[in-house]
Amino acid sequence: MKKILVTGGLGYIGSHTVVELQNTGFEVVIIDDLSNSSKEVLSRITSITGIKPDFEEIDLKNKQAVEQFFKNYSIDGVIHFAASKAVGESVNEPLKYYENNITTLTYVLKEMIANQVPNFIFSSSCTVYGQADELPITENAPTKPAESPYGATKKMGEIIIEDTTKVTALKAIALRYFNPIGAHETSKIGELPLGVPQNLVPFVVQTAAGIRECLSVFGDDYNTPDGTAVRDYIHVVDLAKAHIVALNRLLNNENKATCEFFNIGTGKGSSVLDVINAFEKATNKKVNYKIVARRAGDITAAYADTSLANNELGWKAELGLEEALASSWKWQESLK
Ligand code: UD1
Repeated sequence: MKKILVTGGLGYIGSHTVVELQNTGFEVVIIDDLSNSSKEVLSRITSITGIKPDFEEIDLKNKQAVEQFFKNYSIDGVIHFAASKAVGESVNEPLKYYENNITTLTYVLKEMIANQVPNFIFSSSCTVYGQADELPITENAPTKPAESPYGATKKMGEIIIEDTTKVTALKAIALRYFNPIGAHETSKIGELPLGVPQNLVPFVVQTAAGIRECLSVFGDDYNTPDGTAVRDYIHVVDLAKAHIVALNRLLNNENKATCEFFNIGTGKGSSVLDVINAFEKATNKKVNYKIVARRAGDITAAYADTSLANNELGWKAELGLEEALASSWKWQESLK
């Protein structure tokens, strides 16, 4: 049985990926510092799969602890989610982001190399493309200057990894996620935003639940069919499955370069109003909303060309927007 380290494995995407790893026969060890997650997720994962993953509460900024971890565990691959991810916060606390997302990445990579662990999957983001000149966005689209320190850490992370693969035995795949939404069908794991949600779907769901009074739709004067901004919303379970196929590609030496990049999205663009309408249709719940000014730093439209992931990874998103939104709602209801 192959043993995989999942950093940030108690977080939103991490926990869904741990479930898929266990379901496909991998042994999992999670590192999480619980800074934006809870230990309860461990028992929730266990109740879905029937297998308790190993868990180490480690802050990856602790270099000695990372070294000791790699001495204690014999690992076949690493899926690296652990990172801070609030765009607004990153603008106000850049050093927190560079330390949490970059310093820790270098520690993990160093120990992988020192311990001959060659297989690395990185959580990247479509944010590296900024406002792309052409839609849908292919992996060949040029990356743009980052809009925030958070975005910079994703871009820099890719560069650090690619440079490292050039001169070591490290093999890596960076998955560029579009907008992950939804929750596991069991409603035992899902997204748990702390405080007021910054992302669209958690805000929609909390508005429908009566926790928030009114959703602000940020701008209806974009150059899009209905004037609201367009994104590619992907079900988190589909996204989790992409990590398994990417990992297997490396484990089976099927990769065509030592560092590869894949867009992980549905290929379909949906506007903010599309999301509200699909949510109302999927749940029969009304979402109270008003149009307000654009949010600083937002782009007009982004959706993926997924041909490379479809053809090379043999992966395709299977779940649609309404299914994803219904699962987000079911998850919210389960939190009552
Ligand atoms: C954001 C981040 C992105 C990150 C991703 C993680 C920014 C600028 N970008 O993407 O780097 O990788 O989250 O999930 O923060 N919207 C509203 N009302 C709201 C919230 C959002 O109208 O209350 C709109 C936004 O203007 C946007 C769309 O909904 O058009 C999606 O927003 P969001 O969920 O925050 O994701 P992104 O901004 O695309």
